[in-house]
Amino acid sequence: MKQSYTAKTFTLGALEGLSETQISEHLKLYAGYVKNTNALMEKIAAHKQNAEAMAIELSELTRRFGFEFNGMRLHEYYFSQFEKSEGSADKLKMALESQYGSFDAWKNEVSAMAVMRGIGWVLTVVDETNGNLLNVWVSDHELGQLGGQKVVFALDVWEHAYTVDYKPTERAKYVEAFWKNLNWQKVEERYL
Ligand SMILES: [Fe+2]
Repeated sequence: MKQSYTAKTFTLGALEGLSETQISEHLKLYAGYVKNTNALMEKIAAHKQNAEAMAIELSELTRRFGFEFNGMRLHEYYFSQFEKSEGSADKLKMALESQYGSFDAWKNEVSAMAVMRGIGWVLTVVDETNGNLLNVWVSDHELGQLGGQKVVFALDVWEHAYTVDYKPTERAKYVEAFWKNLNWQKVEERYL
């Protein structure tokens, strides 16, 4: 069975503190993850035809898959959070409030994690075993992902996410801009 993915399109209006050029460059990188996910699946399938002789190549391609696949999927979570939609996110906010003491406590924790050194993502995930909302640091796109978790919130803190508009040392300013544009309802849709 041939499997492949298609790059999604996102309906993004003007964003506050994130320029059109910044977003369009970032979307090009997203398209690259989709392309490489498809290319990897094809190469892995081809190498499996001759798995013994191609064992080293197959191993390395297989190890690479999580990087490209999660690069694709996490960017889809990220960009769709900037799409506009109507409605509230009360249930999500109540859940965060009850678990973190206040909504701001959760947000402050995410903001602090987002300026940690290194490239990666800050995710909020739901633990499928007990419904807990956990904030998780993921290096690259795949290192540190926890098993059995549903991603509801994704903040990209790779430098490519902001260095068109901000200096590498200004990640905190980018995080502030990110919050201003976040559509909470999109996040809640994933939570419910
Ligand atoms: Fe990114």
